[in-house]
Amino acid sequence: MSKKKPSYYNHNGFLMPMGFPIEGFTSALNYQAQPSDIFLVTYPKCGTTWTQYILWLMQHQGEPLSASEKLETYIPHLEEVGKETIENLPQPRVIKTHFPYELTPYHPEAKYIYVARNPFDCVVSFYHHTRGFIKHYNFADGTFDDFFECFISGEVDFGDYFDHLLSWYEHKNDENILFLTYEAMKNNIKMIIIKIANFLGGDYLNCIKNEHTLNKIIINSSLENMKKEQQRWSSNRPENMPSFVRKGEVGDWKNYFSSEQQQRLIDKFMIRTAGTDLKPLWFF
Ligand code: A3P
Repeated sequence: MSKKKPSYYNHNGFLMPMGFPIEGFTSALNYQAQPSDIFLVTYPKCGTTWTQYILWLMQHQGEPLSASEKLETYIPHLEEVGKETIENLPQPRVIKTHFPYELTPYHPEAKYIYVARNPFDCVVSFYHHTRGFIKHYNFADGTFDDFFECFISGEVDFGDYFDHLLSWYEHKNDENILFLTYEAMKNNIKMIIIKIANFLGGDYLNCIKNEHTLNKIIINSSLENMKKEQQRWSSNRPENMPSFVRKGEVGDWKNYFSSEQQQRLIDKFMIRTAGTDLKPLWFF
């Protein structure tokens, strides 16, 4: 049986994608959060781009990004671009990060939106992501089984799924943190957009008071629409790889997991989340 592992940069035990400039990690850690900053925080593959586009649409009265533009120009990924690029953005800024709580630049007046996704669908999505970005990971011929082993042992970029989730979950009731789930977004995106608007206030709240604008935000950020415009969200993938906006479903993991893998991830989930109320969010 093959045991292929993706390639990563290792920053004192914290793994990062090789496609990111190596200096981005330290630079990101040194970014000084500003009171007006809005951080969009996720573990990879948990609904970042969807939420990122919703935030952008909320800033633009629901009007779509023009075909030649890239979302990351306006809402960049801190660890990828480094702090100077972020500092050059006008304020207020919206900043994407995959850092766990303790590494994320903090300001008590900044706002943090955290989106969590169940680990089963996350690992499947992460597997496709990792094999698709060939220059980042050198894992084009890696199997799901190979990747599952890396994921369950926490040896993937941006660290262990459970460390990440728990680091933010502990703060879910902090005033400046909004804790969301991908599954709740799938279930009722309108309600989630209203939650985001209430959390952020100001222009974000004003824009959704207009029902027409709210509907435009929902339609333009729909899976169907985001699937059509892949180049806006991500660099192109080779023909034989799944696209970045892939299935966008809850439960795709059932097409990938063996019953043994299912049991191992359930066991891990139970151990790592014992004493929290995370279980009812997802089980299954
Ligand atoms: P799948 O690979 O399960 O399809 P991220 O942006 O954090 O990398 O997350 C990517 C996941 O979000 C992918 O999941 C992708 O298909 C899904 N996604 C992207 N846009 C979406 C949308 N508008 N609605 C639902 N899911 C979306």
